[in-house]
This record gives sequence, C-alpha cells and structure tokens, in this order.
Amino acid sequence: MDNLINIFEMSPRDGLQNEKNFISTNDKIKFINKLSFCGFKKIETSSFVSPKWVPQLSDARDVFRGISRMKGVKYTALTPNEKGFDNAVIAKVDEVAIFTAASETFNKKNTNCDIQTSLRRFKPIMNKAKKNKLPVRGYISCVSHCPYENYVDPKKVALIANELIKMGCYEVSLGDTTGKGNAEQTFKVIKECLQFTSPKNLAGHFHDTYQNALDNIKVCLENGMRTFDSSVGGLGGCPYSPGAKGNVATEKVNKLVLSMGYKTNLDSSKINECGDIAKKLKTTGSYS
Ligand code: HMG
Ligand code: MG
Repeated sequence: MDNLINIFEMSPRDGLQNEKNFISTNDKIKFINKLSFCGFKKIETSSFVSPKWVPQLSDARDVFRGISRMKGVKYTALTPNEKGFDNAVIAKVDEVAIFTAASETFNKKNTNCDIQTSLRRFKPIMNKAKKNKLPVRGYISCVSHCPYENYVDPKKVALIANELIKMGCYEVSLGDTTGKGNAEQTFKVIKECLQFTSPKNLAGHFHDTYQNALDNIKVCLENGMRTFDSSVGGLGGCPYSPGAKGNVATEKVNKLVLSMGYKTNLDSSKINECGDIAKKLKTTGSYS
C-alpha cells in the first residue's frame, strides 16, 4: 500500500551501541520486549560485531536468547563479516544487515578496511544468507557528509547502492551518519540512486544532530521512498562518528507522516512510553 510508511526501529542497536554506560543484558531485553508491543514490523536488536570495537553490544547472543519474540515482528542484527553472520544464525536472527560507507576514511575507522574490501567480505555472507533463506539489508554510511573527509559524491553513493542491490540486498538504507545532510544534498543522493534502483529498495536513515532529519524525510517521501529508520527517544549515534547524535526520534517521524496523511500502524502512546524509557536508559544507564 503506497500510503503505508515502514518505520524500522533502531534504538536497541544504533541507540545502545553509543551509550557510555553498558546497559545490562536484562535491561536491554526488557526494553526490546516493550518495543515489541508498539506495532513495529522490524526491530534492530543488536550487532554481531567485534566486542573490542563495540563492547556495548557484546551480549548480542544473550539478548537474542532472552527476548520474547512477538509474532509478526522481525528481530534483526548487523553482521560485518562471516563470523558475525555465523553467530547471528546461531542466535536465530530473522534478518541481517551488512554495512559499508561512501567514505574510505569512515569505512576504515568503522570496519578496519576499505570500501572494496568490505564489499568483497559481504559475498560469502550473501551466499550463506541465501542458503539460510535470510533477508539481507545493506547500509551505506556517510551518504551526505563524512566526519573525516567532509564532501561525499552522491554518484559514489549510488554506485555502492547498486553493488549492494546486485549482490542481493533487498533494500539499501542511506545513512546520514553525521546529520549534516540537508534537503538539497539528500535530493542529490536520492536522484543518483534512482538511476539504478526503485525507491522501494531504498530507506532513509537520518541522524538528527542538526534537526535536518524531518526535512530530509519529506524529500524522500516526495521521491517515492516509504521506509525510514528511527529510534524511540532519538537514542543513538555512531561510536566512529564523533559528535553525531541519535537517529531521528520515532515519535517525531510517526507524528510527521501521520500529519501528512500516511499510515504507520504504530501505537503512538506505546512509542511515547518507550521514548521515555530510552531517555531513562540514556541518563541513568538503567531501565528501572
Ligand atoms: P578487525 O579487528 O579488522 O577484525 O575488525 P579481525 O578479523 O582482524 O579480527 C580481530 C578480532 O576480532 C579477532 O579476535 C576476531 O575473532 C574478532 P581475537 O583473535 O583478537 O581475539 N572478531 C569478531 N568477534 C566477534 N564478532 C565478529 C568478529 N569479527 C572479528 N563479527 C570488524 C573488523 C569489522 C570485525 C570490526 O571493525 C567491527 O566489529 N566493526 C564494527 C563497528 C560497528 O559496529 N560500528 C557501528 C555500526 S555501523 C553504524 O552505526 C552506521 C549505521 O547506523 C548507518 C549510519 O548511521 O551511517 C549502520
Ligand atoms: Mg546510524
């Protein structure tokens, strides 16, 4: 349905990966269980990345083991390499995501390799995902701006998006990691990507550091995109993007798109409650 907006909840992964305090496994599980009642079809639950790189999510396996899975909700995770993918399969993840960037320096800081090497690393993941019938989403970071290189060429973003789609990703999420992308830049990125793919295969992932996210989402909507990543309470950031704030708040995206006549099938009061819990996790490091 063209007026249905898919809001992909990111807070347990993109949110909690950036918290200074380690949120206990039990509190993560309680938070995810509460999110499961909001109406989301997908919750990015954790990451199977190196615990040395992101210690905050080193308990991914226990989180997946502990949550109560709600029928109709997919619990997803990031997998940067085969080791991460194998661990995700053991944890019975419903969908995985691979991630690269449109900036060489950011990619090196985030995954310790250049962009081409990261794309090569994804090939065995895609083969195994096919065998396991697991859908794979692709992320591109720094689509509008890089914290180390500044300018990012939208054509480069589109070429990488095309590579990810060609290797079998069902969707590519375009990440404005620093939140510096404005509506004009976002339009350029989408326009280039649409040379290769349909808006149905693209998602918007906006960090709201400079309050540009809602304007950027409007540009995406005008260009046919219907999937957006967000975090309740605006939780999040990226440990390898200094100063970047959280994903745009789910509450804000929901309110915006409803006011524009779209549907989300989310329970507004439940997402507000989860937003309060997210803020509490952020300020006190604990759920209760
Ligand atoms: P590396 O150090 O080059 O990896 O890291 P390696 O293959 O040389 O292995 C080194 C050690 O890590 C070994 O352990 C491996 O076993 C272990 P040791 O022998 O030293 O004890 N290891 C792993 N352990 C558990 N799970 C794994 C794994 N892989 C290796 N999967 C690597 C390369 C990619 C692993 C590392 O750089 C990494 O984990 N990076 C992840 C960084 C990250 O999670 N960043 C945040 C998510 S991306 C993001 O937030 C952006 C996004 O939101 C969009 C946007 O906003 O832009 C998606
Ligand atoms: Mg992000």
